[in-house]
Amino acid sequence: MKDFKNKVMFITGAAHGFGQVIAEEGAKRGMKLALVDMDEDALKDTYQAAIDAGTEAMMIGADVTKEADVDAAVDKAMAKFGQIDLLINNAGIALPGRMWELPTRDWEWIMHVNLMSQVYAMQRVIPIMMKQKTHGDILNVASIAGLVDTPGMPSYHASKFASVGMTEATAYDLQRAKADISMHVMCPGFVQTDLYHTENHRPAQYTDKSDPYYQSEAYLKGQQFAKYVITNGKPIDSIADTVFKALEDNRFYILTHPEFNPLIADRVHRIVNDGAPDVSVMNGIM
Ligand SMILES: NC(=O)c1ccc[n+]([C@@H]2O[C@H](COP(=O)([O-])OP(=O)(O)OC[C@H]3O[C@@H](n4cnc5c(N)ncnc54)[C@H](O)[C@@H]3O)[C@@H](O)[C@H]2O)c1
Repeated sequence: MKDFKNKVMFITGAAHGFGQVIAEEGAKRGMKLALVDMDEDALKDTYQAAIDAGTEAMMIGADVTKEADVDAAVDKAMAKFGQIDLLINNAGIALPGRMWELPTRDWEWIMHVNLMSQVYAMQRVIPIMMKQKTHGDILNVASIAGLVDTPGMPSYHASKFASVGMTEATAYDLQRAKADISMHVMCPGFVQTDLYHTENHRPAQYTDKSDPYYQSEAYLKGQQFAKYVITNGKPIDSIADTVFKALEDNRFYILTHPEFNPLIADRVHRIVNDGAPDVSVMNGIM
């Protein structure tokens, strides 16, 4: 079993939700923390919890949709701690909205937060981990939405399927390169976090909301849907412990909602049996 005591965690999206509780659990386990988020006010709470737990921590304000911000955040963490042992690419947003309605700009926004931020961080941190003489771990936070398909949020599915596939493919490449780095991908179902407040985390370059979509019934319904599913999700209490146990046991897939496993199996079954998405199956589920 791995021991993360005195190791350095670099985690994005550490101000709220999963990022906050995973960072706090890391602090309890004696990890040093580089806490990254665009919400610098809320990040202070995570930082204070780490200090109260008796560990070293630093706050790094960054918009992870910008490669330069992610690069600078990695540089700051390296300047303070000199190493990164556990990279957690957790920052994320959820945007409901059908293919023919969600503005292209929002597609770009979600792909940059949920996918490209993970690319930027891995491109910088993998070479650092390769040079270190110690084991490295990388956890990409995807979603059950990266393993099963549902109606109403194709941009979220696109970003999360891409994150899962990218993590799996990178695991192969790291094994071929004989790198001492373990990849992990987390695929939770709904959990009570701040995720339905995605609009609060809209960076300045995506704030042009002149598109009539934002005044439409479809937009309002999407916001209500996001609030409903997140506030009716699992309580967040046990998530951080589940994540650390999986990391300690070196598990690749971290699934927090076993009740969704049959949906994963159904999708694979449908693919190999020449099936197709059938909305009548989804009615009553989503
Ligand atoms: N809550 C769920 O039900 C659920 C389910 C599956 C997967 N997830 C995934 O978990 C991850 C964490 O989400 P959460 O549920 O804790 O939501 P959350 O909103 O509580 O936390 C997300 C964090 O990411 C930060 N963030 C967003 N955009 C950013 C940006 N451009 N730059 C820097 N920081 C940014 C936010 O400030 C926030 O602190 C996301 O990747 C999400 O897709 C959540």
